[in-house]
Amino acid sequence: MQSVHKIYEMIAGFVAAARAQLAARPELREHPENLLQSLLVAAETDTGFDAREIADNVLTMLLAGEDTTANSLAWALYFLARHPEVQTRMRAEVDTALGERALESFEQIRELTYVDAVINEAMRLKPVAPLNVVEANRDLTIGQLRVRRGDAVAILSRAIALRETAFEQPSQFDPERWLLVEGGRRAFNPRSFMPFGSGPRLCPGRSLALLEMKVVLAMIAHHFHVEAACNLDQVTERLAFTMSPHGLRLRLVARG
Ligand code: HEM
Repeated sequence: MQSVHKIYEMIAGFVAAARAQLAARPELREHPENLLQSLLVAAETDTGFDAREIADNVLTMLLAGEDTTANSLAWALYFLARHPEVQTRMRAEVDTALGERALESFEQIRELTYVDAVINEAMRLKPVAPLNVVEANRDLTIGQLRVRRGDAVAILSRAIALRETAFEQPSQFDPERWLLVEGGRRAFNPRSFMPFGSGPRLCPGRSLALLEMKVVLAMIAHHFHVEAACNLDQVTERLAFTMSPHGLRLRLVARG
């Protein structure tokens, strides 16, 4: 409870700072520089959000947007440390796409299909939201299972991504599998891979998170070699809202 209180205090500080920025620079009302400024302007005009609703939305963005992306990246780096050959391949792709230029356009990012594959594969084996608890709005039957309105249902997104029927040798880290195409189709069932959930509540931050991770991994591959600074076999999964790699220590060695 103390921690929740502290978080709301921090959020009150963010909100006060954003209000002060809006007051000092009224042009920000037309062109807000961040989500919180937009939210505050919208609250005055469109939404009628009260202070508590604004704080709760900021909390959602903090919880849903920060640790999820950071821990997904941490797991991807964990796999890179385990698989130097994957780093070599990633680096070759990034170096070719960038040449002597800096990473500055979507076109360059789009070319990095192997980096995408690494991200997907890391999220398949280590989804930071491996379970998602939802509540049934109405009575329904799923397969042979009857669910009543109001029942809580835990969706195990990792379990479906580890089925032999969905992915060959499912427990192996193999980014290559994401690049295989059979008869113009991917060689896996997309319904077996849902690290961002699915349906109408699909994560709205998906594209942002994927882009952020891609940029960070590309930059790391371009400039550094990732090495373990701990025994990777002793890294464990810790589930506390998101699933993080507990005990992970890595070293980034600058490329010569
Ligand atoms: C790798 C990073 C991320 C992962 C793995 C992730 C995963 C998820 C999952 C599994 C859900 C539940 C979806 C469902 O119920 O079907 C969700 C919801 C949500 N995510 Fe993300 N997320 C990530 C990044 C982000 C980012 C960057 C933002 C915002 C900038 C964000 C904002 C949200 C919000 C607001 C919801 C609630 C949506 C709703 O209930 O309608 N997420 N996310």
